[in-house]
Amino acid sequence: MNPIRSHWRLLVAAVTAAAAGFFLMSLPAPQQVSAQPRTPEPDLLAAQAAAGDPDAPGPMQPIPFSHAWHAGKYEIECLYCHTGTDRSQAAGVPSVELCMGCHSQFQYGNDEEGNTLEPEGIQVLKQYWENKEPIPWQQIHRLPEHVQFRHNRHVAAGVECQTCHGPVETMDKLYLTEDTVWWPWLLPSKKLEMGWCIQCHRENEASQDCLLCHY
Ligand code: HEC
Ligand code: HEC
Ligand code: HEC
Ligand code: HEC
Ligand code: HEC
Repeated sequence: MNPIRSHWRLLVAAVTAAAAGFFLMSLPAPQQVSAQPRTPEPDLLAAQAAAGDPDAPGPMQPIPFSHAWHAGKYEIECLYCHTGTDRSQAAGVPSVELCMGCHSQFQYGNDEEGNTLEPEGIQVLKQYWENKEPIPWQQIHRLPEHVQFRHNRHVAAGVECQTCHGPVETMDKLYLTEDTVWWPWLLPSKKLEMGWCIQCHRENEASQDCLLCHY
């Protein structure tokens, strides 16, 4: 599976070409390289600010990481980052190495006062990388220990990520989206509650056996 669509590949090609260009140009006069800084687009800084907005719904994350930017604008596929979307606590969220696979390629210059133009979130990412520390992401979706849930059968059955998680590719900061289903006797059941699971299993003729989800 190729996770990255063509215009992202073009960007990589452009970055690589530019880097190679800088390298050649830099041979006679290395001090001039920094005169060609990579300048973040204004909408990148806006996405970063929205991802780190304390007033927006959802927990504050250690890095203001925007899904709207990565999964929306750059169309990086969900499964590229969430490869092992499975039971264990950390398995579903990408490693620092995966982030750095892209981010070690981007160099930023300085502004007139000599301050780096590198977006703050990327600086924090690189600190975790240098300190060889995992990023302590706050988990948003969490079932109690007595419930069995695995992604693979759901994904294989063709249930979209968005059906359960909302329009993630439009969200800068992630949060637990509202999804209240009404039982026939009109007791509302919120997302991640048992009635929410059962309602969809009923609609899709999937098993409602207690031992499917509890054992
Ligand atoms: C497939 C490539 C790719 C991967 C993987 C990737 N990024 Fe990015 N990211 C980008 C690009 C491209 C930009 C825009 C950079 C620019 O234009 O200067 C960006 C921008 C950002 C920004 C600034 C915008 C924002 O979202 O706040 C942050 C912070 C960031 N990335 C963090 C991360 C983290 C953390 C990971 C790992 C979980 C990660 N990135 C993985 C490609 C990637
Ligand atoms: C570039 C890597 C990257 C891509 C692409 C990506 N994600 Fe994520 N995802 C992350 C990171 C990092 C976190 C943890 C930080 C956060 O919650 O924003 C996360 C968190 C999540 C969570 C919350 C997990 C929890 O704690 O409960 C969900 C749900 C999610 N992503 C779904 C998606 C979906 C759906 C897509 C595709 C539309 C997608 N992601 C694309 C990196 C990525
Ligand atoms: C049928 C509903 C459903 C679908 C479809 C679904 N998820 Fe989830 N997701 C959940 C539930 C429920 C949890 C909480 C799991 C737990 O606590 O064990 C979760 C947790 C997560 C997490 C948190 C980390 C983890 O593994 O616990 C990530 C990341 C995530 N989902 C991403 C995705 C992505 C990406 C897709 C699409 C490929 C997807 N999900 C499809 C229901 C779903
Ligand atoms: C949006 C619909 C939907 C939601 C919400 C949903 N499921 Fe499912 N689930 C399905 C479908 C469809 C299947 C059947 C897949 C098959 O038969 O191949 C399934 C199968 C399963 C299975 C058996 C396969 C396996 O992975 O071992 C378990 C267990 C399960 N679901 C647990 C849950 C739990 C727990 C929740 C709530 C946290 C939940 N599901 C929410 C649609 C859903
Ligand atoms: C499709 C998955 C699924 C099936 C089938 C299922 N449950 Fe649950 N059950 C859950 C989830 C998810 C929770 C956690 C709800 C929460 O934390 O709010 C739960 C919680 C519970 C609890 C604890 C209630 C509480 O307040 O913490 C009991 C007891 C329970 N289930 C019994 C049953 C029985 C009995 C059956 C069979 C008739 C059954 N479950 C079938 C998903 C399921």
